[in-house]
Amino acid sequence: MPYRLIKQEGAARRGEFVTVHGTVQTPAFQNVATAAAIKGGLSALDLKEIRAQVMLCNTYHLHLRPGDQIVADMGGLHKFTRWDGPILTDSGGFQVFSLAKLRQITEEGVTFNSHLDGHRIFMGPEQSMQIQANLGSTIAMAFDECVENPATYEYAKNSCARTARWLLRCKAEMARLKHEEKAVNPDQLLFGINQGCTFKDLRVEHMKQIAEYDLDGYAIGGLAVGEPAEVMYDIISAVEPYAPKDKIRYLMGVGTPGNIIEGVYRGVDLFDCVMPSRNARHGHLFTWNGIINIKNLKYERDESPIDPHCDCPVCRNFSRAYIRHLQKADEMLGMRLAVMHNLYFYNHLMERIREALDNGTFQQFHDTYVHRLDTRI
Ligand code: GUN
Ligand code: ZN
Repeated sequence: MPYRLIKQEGAARRGEFVTVHGTVQTPAFQNVATAAAIKGGLSALDLKEIRAQVMLCNTYHLHLRPGDQIVADMGGLHKFTRWDGPILTDSGGFQVFSLAKLRQITEEGVTFNSHLDGHRIFMGPEQSMQIQANLGSTIAMAFDECVENPATYEYAKNSCARTARWLLRCKAEMARLKHEEKAVNPDQLLFGINQGCTFKDLRVEHMKQIAEYDLDGYAIGGLAVGEPAEVMYDIISAVEPYAPKDKIRYLMGVGTPGNIIEGVYRGVDLFDCVMPSRNARHGHLFTWNGIINIKNLKYERDESPIDPHCDCPVCRNFSRAYIRHLQKADEMLGMRLAVMHNLYFYNHLMERIREALDNGTFQQFHDTYVHRLDTRI
C-alpha cells in the first residue's frame, strides 16, 4: 500500500506516499508542467531548488506535441525532463473538455479537434492509458468526463456512471500494458476520479462505487470550475467519509493558498494548480502577509525582497525594485524569478502545513492563515 497515514488532526491528515520515484510527504503540492516544462522557464533542476516534490504533466498536450511515442523513445518523461521525482500525468479528460472544440462523447470515448491544428482525434480510456504508459509517469489518472457546471441532474448522473465504466476500462488496460515487454514504468500507479457536479448524493454514490475498485489513490475532480468556494468545501466534506482511509486523496486543480488550507482541513492530501505560475506572470506574488502586485509604483525603489519571511533563492538575492523593473520591461527573467518565488511559496506552504500537523497545531495554523494568504495587500 503506497499511502501511509502518520497523524491526524480532525479530518486533516499527515502522511507519506511511497513510489518508485521517491516518497512524497503529504499534504503536498504538485508543480504544474503541462507540456513537460514549468511555464516561466523553469527546468527540473530549478524544481529541486524550490523544494518541489511532484511534477504534473499532461496527457493531452504531450500526445499532441511532441507525441507520446517520441517521449517513450526518449526513455519516458523522467529521462526526457531530467526530473527524477514522482510525476503525475492527468488523463486528458479535463483538457479535452476545456480546450478541444467540437467534441462528440460516446460510450467508447471522445472525438475532438486538436486545439493546435484542428485535426480530428479520438481518445477513450484505452488511448489515455496507452499514452500515459508511453510517458512512463509515476501516477496515471483515469480518463474521466469533467462535467460542466452547471449541469442537469440527469446529465451528471449518466456521466458519473460512464466515468465509472471508463475507470474499469482504464484499470484493465493498465494491467494489460504493464505486461508489455518494454513498459517504460511497469510500476505505474492509477488514481480514480470522483465526479458528480454539485450534486452531493451523486458525488457520494460515485465515490462509494469507485472506492470498491481498489485504486492507488482517489481524486476529486470537476471542482473549482466556477462554483463558490463554500460549495466546493461542502462537496469535499460530503465525499471525504467515503474515500478509503488507507489511500491518498487528491483535489484536482485547486487552488489559492486558502483553498488548499481548507482542503487539508477536510482531509485532502494532494493538490495542483496553475495559479502560482500563472499569477506570477501577471505580477501577483504570494507572501505570508497576503498577495502583492510587484508592478505597483510603490515598489519602484523598494530594496527589500518580495517576502522578508521567504528564504527562496529569489528572496535571498533580489529586491522588489529589481523584479518590478524586469517585469515592467518584459524581461524573461522577471517572469522566471516571479514563478520561482510563487512555486517555492506553495511548496513551502505545504511544508508549514505538515509541520503544523506534526506538532498538532494545524487548527491554529488554519485560523491564522486561511484568509490572510488570499488577501491582496
Ligand atoms: N483537473 C481539474 N479538474 C479535473 C477533472 O475533473 N478531471 C481531470 N481529469 N483533470 C482535472
Ligand atoms: Zn521568495
